[in-house]
Amino acid sequence: MSIETIFDTMDYGTAPEDRNAALQWIADHGGIAGPYVNGTWGPFRDDLSVSNPATGEKLAGMTIACPDEVAAAVAAARKAQPAWEASGGPARARVLYAIARLMQKHARLLSVMESLDNGKPIRESRDIDIPLAIRHFYHHAGHAQLMPTTLSDRMALGVCGQIIPWNFPLLMLAWKIAPALAMGNTVVLKPAEYTPMTAMLFADICAQAGVPPGVVNIITGDGSTGEALTASEVDKIAFTGSTAVGRRIQDATATSGKSLTLELGGKSPYIVFDDADIDSSIEGLVDAIWFNQGEVCCAGSRLLVHEAIAEDFHHRLKARMDKLRIGDPLDKSIDVGAIVDPIQLAQIQSLIAANDAGETYHANTPLPEGCFYPPTLITGLHAADTLMQEEIFGPVLVSTTFRTQAEAIEIANNTKYGLAATIWTENINLALDIAPKLVAGVVWVNATNLFDAAAGFGGLRESGFGREGGWEGLQSYSKTAVPIPHPATIAAFTGKGATDETVDRTSKLYIGGKQARPDGGYSQAIFGSKGQLLGHAPIASRKDIRNAVQAQAACGWGKTSGHLRAQILYYIAENLAAQAKGFAARLDTMTGTTSGASEVDAAVDILFTYAAWADKFEGRAKSVPIRGVALAMREPVGRIAVLCPDATPLLGLVMPMAAALSTGNTITLCASQPFPLAATDFYHILEASDVPAGAVNILTGSQADLAPHLGAHMDIDSVWCLSHQDAKQAVKAKASSNIKRVWAGAAPEDHLSWLDAGTEIKTIWIPYGE
Ligand code: NAI
Repeated sequence: MSIETIFDTMDYGTAPEDRNAALQWIADHGGIAGPYVNGTWGPFRDDLSVSNPATGEKLAGMTIACPDEVAAAVAAARKAQPAWEASGGPARARVLYAIARLMQKHARLLSVMESLDNGKPIRESRDIDIPLAIRHFYHHAGHAQLMPTTLSDRMALGVCGQIIPWNFPLLMLAWKIAPALAMGNTVVLKPAEYTPMTAMLFADICAQAGVPPGVVNIITGDGSTGEALTASEVDKIAFTGSTAVGRRIQDATATSGKSLTLELGGKSPYIVFDDADIDSSIEGLVDAIWFNQGEVCCAGSRLLVHEAIAEDFHHRLKARMDKLRIGDPLDKSIDVGAIVDPIQLAQIQSLIAANDAGETYHANTPLPEGCFYPPTLITGLHAADTLMQEEIFGPVLVSTTFRTQAEAIEIANNTKYGLAATIWTENINLALDIAPKLVAGVVWVNATNLFDAAAGFGGLRESGFGREGGWEGLQSYSKTAVPIPHPATIAAFTGKGATDETVDRTSKLYIGGKQARPDGGYSQAIFGSKGQLLGHAPIASRKDIRNAVQAQAACGWGKTSGHLRAQILYYIAENLAAQAKGFAARLDTMTGTTSGASEVDAAVDILFTYAAWADKFEGRAKSVPIRGVALAMREPVGRIAVLCPDATPLLGLVMPMAAALSTGNTITLCASQPFPLAATDFYHILEASDVPAGAVNILTGSQADLAPHLGAHMDIDSVWCLSHQDAKQAVKAKASSNIKRVWAGAAPEDHLSWLDAGTEIKTIWIPYGE
């Protein structure tokens, strides 16, 4: 090609990256990807082939670790954990730092291996995946160093089982391993079956970095290996992957007591307002949906464009799509690489083939033979169309239009997911008004797919729970050193030996700011310690839960200011203090103890405490390496239900209520089962304290009967199980219905844990500059 023709066509040739060093590394390691356990390799078996998706050629064989091999890896991690934790934060920091340095030295090899194995463009693995993975180890070396001073009240969980997907193999490994090691845990990590190769390189780096044997264990395998790891004796499972598998893991760990974090699928909206810089927003869209072939959990896969600019926008977008270069992932000048595997390609093809809605446009650009799919745009869809709802996990953008801001928000939130969202507008006021209204763990303003180790990433709803990155990510890899109380089951008193001093009072449920008879029409007699009848408490059923949750949904408590929430909590405290004597006497007769007065005092005090916190539990502005800020906003989890403990029937009700209200949640409280009358007395205090209707609802009755319905309810975001173990397990057994958060409480004095349980971090990225 002559210079003259190049000037004429403005075409450019290929710029292939050399693959030989990566292939040589594989050959030197026997051509097999296999387990790295307790600092040694093997067994190596050719159970499954690992292929280069761009060419179809076999890269390596792979051992599928069986349950015994998984158990051996977990045992090695268990043995190594105490010494690793005891070595101290600064010692662990040195090891993490050494890992980061070595990754940096081998960055080219890691990038080439990633692109060979996954099919992603080398430009992306070289400039995004590998540098970000390295940054995670540097950042968390810092967290390890600081842990003795900044997190002195926290300790390691123990052994963490980690299961990662194939779309960002090394980056997901770094997101999981770096915080786990920093906090003193040891790990057993399973890479995805399509993409184990960079995890092998990483194991090699661990050996060179002086990671003690057993601290990092990598087991290769498929879903069966993942299942065995989930069932093994680990203290935590951290999973990233599909919502379907996440749900299975939540079910499988329900009765185990294991900690769990799930980073699952998404169908993230990309909202373009009519005042947006259209060319920039189209460039952003290229990064949102054609980055990594669209195989990105937080891909901006749902375009919502203002009707006034839609035609022009789609026109320009198609022109841009036609310019995307698809081809050999190792070519430095391509934009879109290969789909990870023919199975994934077939899944994308079948989803698109089954769609007859809207208009489909495939980029008019040469498509190589093999595992490739063209950048695709489907316009004219309705919010409810399958492709607007289902994750495609490929380079396919679906599009619809909106007219008003309210409609944009409604369509954006019309999904079972809640991972990420993007807003394009030149009006920063509008962007910052919309961002809090989107149900998403991450929001990008005039940018997209920005990530950093200092900024939390994670979802809401069926996109999962838990955050990775930043201070918030450390929560998931550590636990409070303050012991969590184990609530006892207390039997209710019976009417045996009743004396004459009976006072019969019939109480009601409290739903939507009103006293309500139980839907089933049943009540139970409540007796004091001497057998005297104290009153009747209603027996709530599934329908009462439904009514209470509906009342929660209708209440605007989450939008109130911290100041107002504090005022109401103070008012409740004041009204309770005014009735202290009556409550104390009631508690004493109900429980047969003399601690009523001190319990009322403690309840008043806790109301004051959470009133104080209401305007002080703040987020952060993150130190991220961009021109701009990443705000970590604390948002309420939403609709919380609580199984209150049997003992301390007033304090056990007031404490979760105060913490949840303080952080902006609405709440349904299932009162102490043996001593429910403290709760039904308490609604008179609420009625007198200006608590908005639906913010607090009180149910009484059998917790065993209510627990499964709380677990299964699709509109409850979190259940706090503060009563006995059986009720907690009944909730957990059903919690995967909507990937619900289930929390077992914390020590009463550990206020930060209660506040954390009431909030979720939303990271809002706002780049600035002209
Ligand atoms: P997947 O969710 O099945 O696999 C992710 C990881 O989980 C892999 O390491 C796999 O071996 C492991 N795994 C599979 N079954 C398991 C089980 N029962 N117990 C424990 N571990 C198990 O994802 P897959 O099959 O690779 O992709 C299917 C679809 O999932 C994709 O089309 C895409 O829609 C979605 N996906 C979403 C990801 C995300 O980051 N949100 C990542 C990968 C896939």
